[in-house]
Parts: sequence; C-alpha cells; structure tokens
Amino acid sequence: MKQSFLKHTFFIGLIVSGFVSCKDKVDEENVSETTSTSNKTVNLVVDLKDTGIKIQPTMYGIFFEDINFSADGGLYAELIKNRSFEFPDAKMGWKQPNSARPSLNGNSGFAKITNYVTPKGGNKKYSHTVVHNDDNYELINEGFRGIGLKQGKRYDLSVMMAHNEGIEKINFSLVDSTGIILASTDFKPKNDDWKTYEAVLMPNKTEAKAMLKITFEGTGSVDLDMISLFPQDTWKGRKKGLRKDLVELLDDLNPGFLRFPGGCIVEGRSLAQRYQWQKTVGPVLERELLINRWNNLFDHRPAHDYFQSFGLGFFEYFQLSEDLGAEPIPILGCGMACQFNTGELVPLENLDPYVQEALNLVEFANGDIETPWGKLRSEMGHPEPFNMKYLGIGNEQWGPEYFERYEVFVKAISEKYPDIIIVSTPGPFPDGDMFDYGWEQLKRLNAALADEHYYRPPEWFRANADRYDSYDRDGVKVFAGEYAAHPKGVDNGPKENNWDAALSEAAFMTGLERNADVVHLTAYAPLMAHEKGWQWAPDLIWFNNLESYGTPNYYVQKLFSNNPGTDLLKITQNGKPLIGQNELFASAVKDVKTNNLIIKAVNTSKENQTIVISTSGTLLKGKGTITILRSDDLLALNSFEKPNNITLLSEEFEIIDEKIVIQLKSQSMNVIKIKI
Ligand code: AHR
Repeated sequence: MKQSFLKHTFFIGLIVSGFVSCKDKVDEENVSETTSTSNKTVNLVVDLKDTGIKIQPTMYGIFFEDINFSADGGLYAELIKNRSFEFPDAKMGWKQPNSARPSLNGNSGFAKITNYVTPKGGNKKYSHTVVHNDDNYELINEGFRGIGLKQGKRYDLSVMMAHNEGIEKINFSLVDSTGIILASTDFKPKNDDWKTYEAVLMPNKTEAKAMLKITFEGTGSVDLDMISLFPQDTWKGRKKGLRKDLVELLDDLNPGFLRFPGGCIVEGRSLAQRYQWQKTVGPVLERELLINRWNNLFDHRPAHDYFQSFGLGFFEYFQLSEDLGAEPIPILGCGMACQFNTGELVPLENLDPYVQEALNLVEFANGDIETPWGKLRSEMGHPEPFNMKYLGIGNEQWGPEYFERYEVFVKAISEKYPDIIIVSTPGPFPDGDMFDYGWEQLKRLNAALADEHYYRPPEWFRANADRYDSYDRDGVKVFAGEYAAHPKGVDNGPKENNWDAALSEAAFMTGLERNADVVHLTAYAPLMAHEKGWQWAPDLIWFNNLESYGTPNYYVQKLFSNNPGTDLLKITQNGKPLIGQNELFASAVKDVKTNNLIIKAVNTSKENQTIVISTSGTLLKGKGTITILRSDDLLALNSFEKPNNITLLSEEFEIIDEKIVIQLKSQSMNVIKIKI
C-alpha cells in the first residue's frame, strides 16, 4: 500500500496534496488507517442513478435586512445622513459650530427647521437657513460615521434650494477630518420656488471620514432641502444608485433569491413603526422617513441616528433581484408588531387594510400597467412585470394570533393570485413549544413553505447535519430563511465570523443540500454590517465607508451557491449519508447542463483525511477540479487588512483507476468537480 500510495500521489500546488491511486484494491465501504501516513482513508460511493430530486434554483439565496446600517449608510450609496432634515431630531447629523440654539445668532446664522405648508408627500420639513454673519456661519454634515471619499472619483452633489433673499453664493466643500478642503463648488441660488442645483465634485485625497461643509457669501436667508451626495461609480452606473462594491459581492454569490426587507424590521417595534412597502415607492423625495427598528434596540450597541430614508425601497429591491437573477421574495407584516417588542395586534376585524397592502404589492410587482400599482411601477421605469412568485406573510411570528391572521391573508391572496407561493413562519427558534405548535399549524393548513430560523453555536450546526433527514418528504417545504453559527466566548463583532463558525455552517449545509427534496430555499443572516455602525454580529459581509470584504462564512456560501447543480445524488459511506462520521460531511449533485458531478466534502477534524470516491454507474476518467477553503486556526478571520486571509483556492486533480482520491485537508471545505 505504501509503495502504491507514493507512486501515485499527486502534489497539486501547495494546497492539495496526496491524491492517491486506488490501483491497489480498496475496500469499497470502510474506513481504514493507512500505514504510509497518519491520515485516515474513507471510502465513499456516489450513486450516479437519478434520485428524481431536483435542486431548486432558489436553493442558495440572500437575506437582506436594513440592520447594521446595511441600507442607509451601506448599500444605498447616499453619503449625507439626514439629507432632508426629516429625522425627529431634525438636525441630527448636522453641526453648526459657530451657532447656538438659545440665541438669535446675530454673529453667525442658524438653520431653522420649518414645516412645508403643503408637505411633498412624506417630505415634511426643510431648513430655512438664516445668515447674519457669513464669515462665521457654517452648516456641516457628518455623513454616516464620516463620508467615505476616493481620490479622483466623481461625486454627484445635488441640493434643492428656494426663496433666496440676499445670499450671493453658497459654497459646498468636502473637507477632511481636520477641515482641509478636498473638493469644492458653489451655487448662486435664485429667489424663486424650489429648484435642484447639481455639481460634480472630485476629491483630491481619499478620506474615510470626510464631512460636507456649507458656507455662505452675503447675508440673508435661503431654504435648503435634499442635500445629497452620491458616488457616480455605483452599481450599473445608476444615478443615485447602490454601492458598487457591495452589490458586486452579492452578485458573486449567484443568489437564487433575494429576500427583503427583513427580518424584524418588517414587523416594527410597534404597528406604527412597521415597514409599509407602499411608502417606499414613488419619487424618492416623497418617501416618508421611518425609525429603524434597530435604532435603540440594544443598549450595548445604540444607534440613535439609525433611520430609514427608503431611498432603497421596494422598487429598488425588485430591480436588484432582477439584476442579480434572483427571485424576489418580499416579506410583509401580518398585523402583528414584533413579539420580542410590543407584540401589538391588529384586531381581526381591522385586518383588511393590511391584507390590501399585500394584494397591492402583487399588483405593483406583476400587474398590468393599466392597474394603479402597475402604472406606478411603469412610471418608475419598469413597465414589464417583475414576475414575483413568492410572498412572505409575517416574520418570526408565533402563537394562535399569527395563524388566525395568516389564514385571512392566505385566503385573500390565493383567491386573487392563486400562483403566488406564500412563505409562512413556525416562529423564531428551531425547536421548542412555539416551533412545534407552528409546524402543527402549518401542516394543518397545508402551507407551502415554512421559514425556519436558527442562530446557534457552531457545535449545533455540526450536530444537526441530519436535521432534515426525518422531515416529511411530501409535506410543507422548508425555507431555511435565516441562519448563522454564533461562536461562544468570542468578541461580539467581526471576530464572530471566524473559521470555526464558517466550517460548521459548511458541514450543516451539506445536510441542507442532501435534503433538497425538503429544503427549497436557504440564506445566511444577517447579510451585511458597517464596521462602526453594527448592532448584530456575525454577518456575512463587513464594510466601512471605503471598503468591504467577504467573511469566511461568505466564501462557504459562495462555494455552495456557485456550485448548486441541478439534481441530487446519493453519496454514502457504508450505505449511510456522511453526517459527521470521522468528522466528515458530504453531499453530491450533478449538473445536467454541464454534465458535472459536484461533491461538497467537509472535514472538520484536525487531521488530514483521504477520501476515495468511487461511482456506481458511469466510470470516472480524466481530470477534475477541487476548490478548497481552509485554515489551521479555527479563530482565523478575514478583515479589512487581510480580506483574503481565508479564501478559495482551486487546482486540478487527475482520476486514477476510475476513482477520485483526495486528501481532504484538516478543517477544510472542498468542492470537487468532474465531468461525467
Ligand atoms: O437577522 C437578524 C434578526 O434575526 C432578524 O431581523 C430576525 O428575523 C431574527 O430574529
């Protein structure tokens, strides 16, 4: 054996070593210790016969929630916080260093927040800005924990101004944290009604914490609103669009669906604070601001400046889904505020307007342009329908109150739109009384999809690779809609995205894939977090004002979602699925479009282990590729400094004697691909 092992071992680069020939007869289904190295050899069989189980195109998707400054201050590329003075504390984010609130400011000036006589939709306030001494008066916006600017890039500045009396010029400068000017422009506003003034600014230095400083020439007053700054270099170059680096990270995941807008944010802490999709569409100027549910939720991570401008609203979510080639999956409230907060209920008698919101949404997404909501979609630039197929009712709701309301929604939606697949919830936890009760009800109601959530320690994920093996094959399908391994005893924050968590998720995900007849959709959560503005960790992607990176967990997702295959195959050891024996986990699929066999194999042990994979049916030959993600250190991370510390490495291997023989490195996730 030793001789044969050495003779046929292939060393592929530095990462894949020990491809072993199986010229010597290897027992088809056993585990043995090789004598040549301390490595174990595990024999696996892939049955190439059709299982009849399809991998749903929605299998690996993304969950977006405006948490951790993911929308305003993140994906939505606006750089000015509280651009239209709509925050309840109307000058939050703005400074007037030489002015005082309890003063006439005769030696400076003051932004007097004024209500519109006739509000512009949800836009109710503007700044009536009075300048008494133009040498002294300054109005400064701090951005979202600073404004991120890149040297030589172009930024679109726009501002609405009206009713200028006496001001000769208004200067808009981007300044660094010490006040040095990086770019600057000025406008001469007219004394007439509201007009938008625009300029392009090009900073001469990269700066993560810049500010926008507004100064004046002349004394008098002028009205200001919608003071806005966007990079020109957005996703698809759309004006006032989305942050390109972040969407690119999402696009690279090749997601099967995009779930939005959350999460608990859907429900709100109270009903008044729930997400109302219809207020997030139409002209951006008119979208009404709402407090973000994560604003003041956690005492240890307060974010009192966290609001939703809805520049990223439902139209933009549908558009993003389309861009990504992902099924849009909106989730709507069901007349219940978040039960972790007030749990406020709409009486069943008053549920109609809520149900109507859901019906209107289907019309907005899919309706003819002659319908009122279809017309709005068309006016917003998308006459074609978005072809929405799924709609979620409620997020993490539990108890009889949910099912009473859910039934009303289902009846109304199914009557009018029988093809819409409704997503329902068995509650916030993966087990326990609420979960059992929820599932009982969902089975009774013959629901289409149950949205399960689990935030659990890494051990739980490794121990639960067989979670779905016992689920009813013909019953309600599963949407594993939010999950993440939460390491214990690790710093709360980016350090929670360590290799231990990611590797454990990889092990668990082989179980999701192996149960593709039950599990139709899956997503890690939450998706993104701002380094300085987060409330919840771990998260798939971290970003700051200038940069972003994918965590090891991101690369695990990427490996699955870029190699989903089309048809499930069986991979077994001694006729049994690999669910942690020898700390190994595996799943197999074929892709009928490319004729590839794709095996995901995870080794969570501290030792290298050799797997010998034979197939029943077609004989293997030629070369394949293996893509590896690994680290010796379970605490290893990616970071802004080392974004690729843990990343994907691919190499070729050669089939020997019709078998795949590969040394799985310790603590590794591997995708093995070969033509069949
Ligand atoms: O993903 C963060 C939160 O976790 C979601 O808002 C909620 O659905 C879950 O409790």
